[in-house]
Amino acid sequence: MSFTAIKEYANDVLTPFISEETQEFHYGKHHMGYASMLNKLVDGTQYAELTLRQLIRLQDQLPDQKIWNNAAQVFNHDFYWKSLSKAETVPSKELSDAINASFGNMENFKASYIETASTMFGSGWSWLICSENSLSIVNTQNANIPAEKKLLVIDLWEHAYYIDYRNDRRTYIENIVGNCLNWNFASENFA
Ligand SMILES: [Fe+2]
Repeated sequence: MSFTAIKEYANDVLTPFISEETQEFHYGKHHMGYASMLNKLVDGTQYAELTLRQLIRLQDQLPDQKIWNNAAQVFNHDFYWKSLSKAETVPSKELSDAINASFGNMENFKASYIETASTMFGSGWSWLICSENSLSIVNTQNANIPAEKKLLVIDLWEHAYYIDYRNDRRTYIENIVGNCLNWNFASENFA
């Protein structure tokens, strides 16, 4: 078995918010690079037989931190591409209720996501998570993954936005939150 980088749509699907060129590099070089490095690291070991989630759960028991880093980055990027959609999607009734209960309304949720993601220092990820039916937004450094139920993620590594937005990370975040969140995926994760 080998690990693969999953993105189920073409590189030009998220234009103009994320360009085809960004996806060529982000998916084709970075995401696939993590998968190919992971395969190299586990080739011929017991870890090659595990699923990605099983491998990630082993964390500290892995012989080499590099295995976890690459496995987590494959998982995070798979999750990121699924979190994005240019087609208009809406949260399920249940998720919509949870958003209203946790943030007041959708506009407040969006403002909160933009603010939290914008405060991230360095490389990492900004997640919408759910714990005991309460939603919140958390940032994680590097490849780290929240333990809670994950609904959506935005990649905040420079390679996610630098071709399109240069140093203007905030506009990248605003465009994703305003136009590209996949509420079908979030609703499935929430259910
Ligand atoms: Fe990335």
